[in-house]
Amino acid sequence: MKLDNVNKIAIVGTGMIGTSLAVLFTGHGYKTCLYALNAELAEESKNRYQEYYQELIQKGLVTDAQAAICEKYLSYTTSYADIADADFVFECSLEDVKVKHEVYKELDKVLVAPKAVISTTSALSVEDLADGIDKFKDKLIVAHPFFPPHLVPFFEVVKSHATADGVTESAVELLESADREVVVLKKNAPGFIANRLQHALFREAINIVEQGIADARSVDKAAKYSFMPRYTSIGIFEHLDNSGVDLNYNIENYLFKDLSAADKAPKLICDLMEQGAYGVKAGRGIYDWSDVDMDDFKSRISAPYWSYFNWELPEE
Ligand SMILES: NC(=O)c1ccc[n+]([C@@H]2O[C@H](COP(=O)([O-])OP(=O)(O)OC[C@H]3O[C@@H](n4cnc5c(N)ncnc54)[C@H](O)[C@@H]3O)[C@@H](O)[C@H]2O)c1
Repeated sequence: MKLDNVNKIAIVGTGMIGTSLAVLFTGHGYKTCLYALNAELAEESKNRYQEYYQELIQKGLVTDAQAAICEKYLSYTTSYADIADADFVFECSLEDVKVKHEVYKELDKVLVAPKAVISTTSALSVEDLADGIDKFKDKLIVAHPFFPPHLVPFFEVVKSHATADGVTESAVELLESADREVVVLKKNAPGFIANRLQHALFREAINIVEQGIADARSVDKAAKYSFMPRYTSIGIFEHLDNSGVDLNYNIENYLFKDLSAADKAPKLICDLMEQGAYGVKAGRGIYDWSDVDMDDFKSRISAPYWSYFNWELPEE
């Protein structure tokens, strides 16, 4: 439910994450102002914002009238002065520490009394980010989303050594009010939680293919039809306990030594890099994408997340 003490959310950056966050916050009745580098980028973002709402309408999750109400909470600016009074600022600029520090310099100049300045960085250390913010250093935290954050209902949050008491809590309260599930890390770590897990799985999946144990399609089939569906309703440690600590003790003692412990990108990935086979965007990666029905693929990407849509949409 919308928090009464939040009057304005600002988002710096109108790219993939910034625009999707605007969908989320306006969809919860928060006045949301996006800072864009120029009017053209603002226009592009607004079009994408409307496309996201069209998708929600087509799915029957939002009506035309509700989408129109949500859009009333949206505004764009190309001047930092217009976000001076924001309660929360989401910094969604490029994944480049220099660019983020430039943004923080501007925020330091204009912000009046933010409750939190929140970076959505994928991988940068919150401590490195904190080096580039001065007046509001104690307000900086990272809240890492997954794309698109209006659909994927999860953020992982980490604070720096300088974050003041209460800042993380107020950001968590805001995100939870927008129906997100949030975890707060006990300390900063590359990859936070979810990408550490995901990449541990990638490492072994690649290892299975490289060792000639199975091909990529078989690995994907094994994961999709065996253990993965379970983890949308129970957690990893819930499963560990359910299957038995004793059983897992025995398995780990003979299996772990056979799993990959690679400490850099494996050969399979390096070879694809050399060939320019970057995946979907290049038409070829692990798979050949040239004949794949991309509309079907995109709809399969979103499919598991529609069930999490439970927003209390603004009524006026
Ligand atoms: N795309 C993802 O899947 C994803 C997932 C989680 C986190 N993130 C992180 O979120 C952040 C934004 O990612 P994205 O995918 O939206 O990137 P993007 O490239 O789509 O958008 C970046 C935005 O930053 C703006 N920008 C560039 N320089 C700027 C400056 N000097 N001042 C203000 N704005 C500037 C650009 O105009 C653009 O709108 C990054 O830190 C990224 O690592 C991305």
